[in-house]
Amino acid sequence: MRRSLVAGNWKMHGSRSDNTRLVEEILRADQGDAGPEILVCPPFVYLWEVGRQLRGSSLALGGQDVCAEAAGAHTGEVSASMLKDVGCSHAIVGHSERRALYGEDDQLVARKFAAAQREGLTPILCVGETLEEREEGRTAEVVLRQLDAVLGVAGTDGFMRAVMAYEPVWAIGTGKNATPDQAQEVHALLRARLAEKDATMAACLRILYGGSVKAVNAAELFAMPDVDGGLVGGASLNGEEFRRICEGGGKQGA
Ligand code: 13P
Repeated sequence: MRRSLVAGNWKMHGSRSDNTRLVEEILRADQGDAGPEILVCPPFVYLWEVGRQLRGSSLALGGQDVCAEAAGAHTGEVSASMLKDVGCSHAIVGHSERRALYGEDDQLVARKFAAAQREGLTPILCVGETLEEREEGRTAEVVLRQLDAVLGVAGTDGFMRAVMAYEPVWAIGTGKNATPDQAQEVHALLRARLAEKDATMAACLRILYGGSVKAVNAAELFAMPDVDGGLVGGASLNGEEFRRICEGGGKQGA
């Protein structure tokens, strides 16, 4: 049985005062075991303070990225153990913005995935094709390549304690979400690839959809059999909108 997960990726937005207000609103989305698991991923500098505000709730905290190295001379980077130290349980790896704007390739993403796991964090592995790749009929090839690179490094066992997110690049921040059928098709493909390795793991792994998730489309996306919740960008910055998305995401089990 898979419990839904709704994660808010705040990207590079927020301020201490904005965050305080936003978290107050998001805390109202906390339905405990009756609703989806909820995760918030603020920018690194705000993790500790947001984490304090979440204390006593069932909401979880995650990093938007993590360094592939454990420690040392890596100016500007944040390690998995540091994320753990400030209260994170999750770390996003391989977000398309990291891949496209910061040159992260499949191998680096795989190393980040493994680094997160070594410290006991649950990595959220993002995969997704660009519009051009979709139009060329290469969606399956691209997302399976991105998945296989991580399987090659982390192995099947690595996916026992992980989450995946299918985020078509053309749907991110565009207001144009994948249709429920488009999302389901790719989610089923990813799960089938994992099932070739280990059927039990594949049945347990949560695959989130991300890309223009809003209150008006969340419930129908999350109702698809292989869609286990969402990774929400822009709409996670509006507490009321995020709460309504969470309310639409209470599917229990598959
Ligand atoms: P939007 O919800 O703003 O499209 O962003 C999706 C995303 O990139 C989440 O990681």
